Amino acid sequence: MTIIEKARQFVESECFKPTSKYGSGPYVEHFLPMVKHSKKLSSKLGGNLEVILIAAWLHDIGSIVIGRKDHHITSAKIAKKFLTENNFDPEKTKLVLDCIRNHRQSTELDQKTLEEKIIADADAICNFDMLPGLFYASMVVEKLTPVEAAKSVKAKLQNKWRRLHFKESRELTRGKYQAAMLLLEEITKL
Ligand SMILES: [Fe+2]
Repeated sequence: MTIIEKARQFVESECFKPTSKYGSGPYVEHFLPMVKHSKKLSSKLGGNLEVILIAAWLHDIGSIVIGRKDHHITSAKIAKKFLTENNFDPEKTKLVLDCIRNHRQSTELDQKTLEEKIIADADAICNFDMLPGLFYASMVVEKLTPVEAAKSVKAKLQNKWRRLHFKESRELTRGKYQAAMLLLEEITKL
């Protein structure tokens, strides 16, 4: 079994445990699209595919096991343990861990390697596939009204769009971005 498949199985099993902080939903709603977008970007831009796919699987594992706070750090810790236990190459482990630590656009961290940029872009692109996730955060977690939530979601999407590193990422997302802006524009005028 490849290390990529082992990482997938590890994430799947953590998502489906009763202790998962977000239930089993993120496996289909976030991890699968994350891997799909990472693979697509790598096919256009290059980078070490093994590193990229392992990072795509493990980048949010801390969120599932421990919770959202500082999940870039907790995910990196869990990933390090997993990769060490599986005797993964130390050089490549370092690259994977950098991808995970720097995957959050919101932390203003500077993504330096091609692999880090691909992971950060793929994660941002996932938001455009799962607008209900952003609305859930705004309305249920932050308790905003529907109109306030629309304004907040619109600003978040604009930010994510602006911070994409590659034109290839924008090409993948443009249609969804424009459609979202069109719909949210109407609501935010209210
Ligand atoms: Fe993510």
